[in-house]
Amino acid sequence: MWIYKVISSTFDYSFLLCLCFKTAPRPSSPRKYFKDSLHTGKSQIINNNCTKSCRTLNINPNTISGDINMNRPNINTHSHFLNESVIEVSYMPEELKHRDHLLDELHHAASPGLRGVQPQNLIIRGLPGTGKTTAIRKVFSELDALPGAIVPVYVNCLMIRTQFGVFSEIFRALSDGQSYPLNRSLQKITMMINGLMKKKNCTLLVCLDDVNYLADHGELNETLYSLLRFHEIHGEAKIGVWAATSDMTFDLFTHTDGRVQSVFMPKEVFFHPYGRDEIAEILHDRVKKGLRYGFITNGAFEMLVDAGYDSGDLRTSLILLRRSAYLAEDLGSDLLDEWIVRQVLPHSNNFTEEKVAETLRPREMELLALIKELARTGMELSMSAVFSEVKERIGCGYSVFFKTVNRLEKAGMIRTEMVKGRGRKRVIVVDGIR
Ligand SMILES: Nc1ncnc2c1ncn2[C@@H]1O[C@H](COP(=O)(O)OP(=O)(O)OP(=O)(O)O)[C@@H](O)[C@H]1O
Ligand SMILES: [Mg+2]
Repeated sequence: MWIYKVISSTFDYSFLLCLCFKTAPRPSSPRKYFKDSLHTGKSQIINNNCTKSCRTLNINPNTISGDINMNRPNINTHSHFLNESVIEVSYMPEELKHRDHLLDELHHAASPGLRGVQPQNLIIRGLPGTGKTTAIRKVFSELDALPGAIVPVYVNCLMIRTQFGVFSEIFRALSDGQSYPLNRSLQKITMMINGLMKKKNCTLLVCLDDVNYLADHGELNETLYSLLRFHEIHGEAKIGVWAATSDMTFDLFTHTDGRVQSVFMPKEVFFHPYGRDEIAEILHDRVKKGLRYGFITNGAFEMLVDAGYDSGDLRTSLILLRRSAYLAEDLGSDLLDEWIVRQVLPHSNNFTEEKVAETLRPREMELLALIKELARTGMELSMSAVFSEVKERIGCGYSVFFKTVNRLEKAGMIRTEMVKGRGRKRVIVVDGIR
């Protein structure tokens, strides 16, 4: 468990440590590298900007072996997390603070669908981290809980960039999670969707989140055309489309032709960036639910709020909170203080992993968590070994497992390698992924 944490934290901070030890020979393993940096005490960064130059790090003797010559009072044996999932960026907050009127606008646009009429089309704009996806997901989960009348389909275009992919997601939503066989035609899937809509007597509300990726792939025009003119070919079917983007230069109309423009005509909903007090309130909620009382100092908290406010992206605060909490835990520190936050700040522009993690589906998240748990045990993650655990604990069949592994690999959350043994086998690798 610990080795895994050190490897993953070292992955995040290895660049930082490289800078500290430019002249020192590079140690062979990430663990040794990390250990040496503590042992030699030469690190510029670790003491850099830190008023506590004689700072004492509380090192857990179970994790770094006894040859480290440093003072270690208050050995940390307990976790600082009350609920680890709360400080994940993908966590769905119970309450979406400071977004009441925007949620009202979304409810209002969706509500015709409940009366069997086409939901209002929207273009949802706003800088990154302004809560667009979270608000959409919130409204969609409320719609999901209502019986039948409207089926919401959320499509993340960062992952699904083709018209066929979008229609497969619609099919999946209408058929309660069944995947569409890849070797069928778009025409066939369209007919099946129409059949399912008739059978369910429902309207559809399709959200194309991060829609600019669909446009970059040249698939936006045809996708919108086939969704918005679905009823012309298939009779009564009613489909509303929400397109969301954080690319403020994205102009929907340069990517669509007159056939689409005459039917789309979306209303614009704008998500403005959060103010500093709003970020502080949201972050405070997460800290309260996610971390042990007293773990984070006021100074560190303010730094995290500032980081989010300065970047205009709430996600910055949340990701830095998560990274600094893990760093504090890895170092065995009883406090998440300003010094810890300073160590993670230089990385505050690189959020690829977290951003991709947000796009995962529940089953993918569940499988990823299990794979990481198995990785921490040090076992070899051959597909068959992992599958037997998955079968027992998650209960899915091999083809679903296989597809999910492929999707996780495509998303960059894991890698797979072919290794030689008594034949060739595929092995999952999770290095650098927490
Ligand atoms: N009002 C809020 N209350 C609590 N958490 C929030 C709120 N708004 C956003 N968040 C959190 O901030 C993070 C980013 O939000 P979200 O993904 O919805 O932003 P976004 O506008 O879709 O960003 P992007 O354009 O980059 O996709 C998420 O972890 C989300 O839970
Ligand atoms: Mg989003």
